[in-house]
Amino acid sequence: MKALTEILELPEAQQAGVTLHIRREDLLFPDLSGNKYRKLKYNLEAAREAGANRLLTFGGAYSNHIHAVAAAGKAFGWETVGLIRGEELSGAPRNPTLQDAEDNGMHLVFLTRSDYRRRNDPDFVKTYLERYGPAYVLPEGGSNALALRGCSEILQPGDEHYNTICCATGTGGTLAGLALGANTGQRVRGYAVVRDPGLESQLSAWAPGAPWTLVRDYDFGGYAKVPPALVAFVNAFRERTGIPLDPVYTGKMLFGVLEDLRSGRLAPGSRVLLIHTGGLQGIRGVNRELQKKNLPLLQV
Ligand SMILES: Cc1ncc(COP(=O)(O)O)c(C=O)c1O
Repeated sequence: MKALTEILELPEAQQAGVTLHIRREDLLFPDLSGNKYRKLKYNLEAAREAGANRLLTFGGAYSNHIHAVAAAGKAFGWETVGLIRGEELSGAPRNPTLQDAEDNGMHLVFLTRSDYRRRNDPDFVKTYLERYGPAYVLPEGGSNALALRGCSEILQPGDEHYNTICCATGTGGTLAGLALGANTGQRVRGYAVVRDPGLESQLSAWAPGAPWTLVRDYDFGGYAKVPPALVAFVNAFRERTGIPLDPVYTGKMLFGVLEDLRSGRLAPGSRVLLIHTGGLQGIRGVNRELQKKNLPLLQV
């Protein structure tokens, strides 16, 4: 699977003496874009081998992972069950992410936040398997060992000349997978988009000793926090480059990368590959929230 890679000729990069490329994983498949295809690839193979005819997984209201699992279920013939954080959403009009998931046949179950916190507890999961039938279970964000293996394949032969790889980091699966797939001399910088204090220990467990660095300075207040300055940045970036970013993941990563270029944290001579991990479907839901607050919207 050869992904498209583009050079980003930005003044920030030229002034920093850095070459910048972006890998457009977002263009891989319309409904399985970015790291979603990579995370699901070996998991769907394993589900098939296990003879499962149902996938059960977890996610928040705007989850790209929920959206992708529903689309994969529809495309490849699995029933899908999504356990969604927030019981208050159950009677509310569906946001575009959940509407698409339902339209693709996913059965949505809304959990209280305290129940949702038990999502990795096997006894808790068992009650849902008893209720909805046997299923291949995918964790939140789709991040498990098979997902890491898929994400390691984002790096391809010919990428050895890059010394720095950058990605957005939520659960850490993409960063860990990239770090496990890195060549000698390469370092992967994950730009945290969440305020999860456990991220470093999760990364150490998944990719012990691998060359990853977690950058914590550009989360804009936490997961799915989208202040006007970030909206302005994402809109301006699209105007400058023609490349759409999502505000929850890749927008924060690119904002951080450009700041790191200005401050010299990305050293002169660096050869940097940015991974565009998709997530563009989430823009519709974010715009709805911004509109309710009368704030500037993301261009689509
Ligand atoms: C668009 C997008 N980019 C990046 C990430 C971060 O991936 P991870 O959760 O593996 O850190 C996600 C979440 O899975 C995502 O949906």
